[in-house]
Amino acid sequence: MSNTSIDTPPGATPAGQIAVSPNNPCPFLRALVANGYVGGDVVSLSQLSEIVGDASGQTGFGKKKVRMATWMVAVIANGLGPGRVFKSATSGAVLDRLRNGPLDKHGGGSRILDAEARVNDEQIDRLASFGKDCKDPAGGIEIGLTAKEIETFMAANIKRDGDAARWYFPILMKGEWPVLLKILGKGEGEARYLSVAEVRTLFVERRLPERITARLPKPASR
Ligand code: HEM
Repeated sequence: MSNTSIDTPPGATPAGQIAVSPNNPCPFLRALVANGYVGGDVVSLSQLSEIVGDASGQTGFGKKKVRMATWMVAVIANGLGPGRVFKSATSGAVLDRLRNGPLDKHGGGSRILDAEARVNDEQIDRLASFGKDCKDPAGGIEIGLTAKEIETFMAANIKRDGDAARWYFPILMKGEWPVLLKILGKGEGEARYLSVAEVRTLFVERRLPERITARLPKPASR
């Protein structure tokens, strides 16, 4: 399987980016850490949920809902024991220690990132194979996945995982690709789609499109 680290050697960090621990397996959080929007270690749940709320582009009650959902995910991300959940709630989530935590599906997801957080190109191609030609509101046609294709993709991931897939994986997955579609998607309603090119950039270059970063406060830790 070939791995990609853009034009830098495997494991290297492109100029201007902050190194992200391989133990952070979330492509969205990896981009936030790499570009200094949040620290790579302990991040308070209020800071984390605020930044995800900003990234969503929602305001008012919509933003509150995104913030709450992020808080709920992050509070259990480092462990389910009562002591750990309390620690996450009060001190924050430890983003460089998410691997092997309750949210880690150990290969039950897209498998785009391996256990060392290297990108598997073939798995991005596989994701693209679930997509179709989508009309970019900014002009042109590109390969993308609408909510419907994302459902099919996630179901195929569970099937591929076979007996290793746990009953709650589909629930965890609802907070991943469909939420990415909400934040990163182009177009409205049923036609809203996740651009495969932008997913590639997110995983490979740990970068969010400018229209998303424009919603975020200037990174503090750069
Ligand atoms: C709204 C914000 C978020 C978005 C859009 C998002 C999106 C994603 C996506 C697309 C994946 C990849 C799944 C795959 O490869 O199949 C993922 C994985 C993951 N995310 Fe996030 N995520 C968000 C917030 C969070 C938060 C707040 C945490 C915890 C603090 C988190 C922890 C994880 C973990 C542990 C995985 C690995 C799951 C696995 O490989 O099985 N994510 N996320």
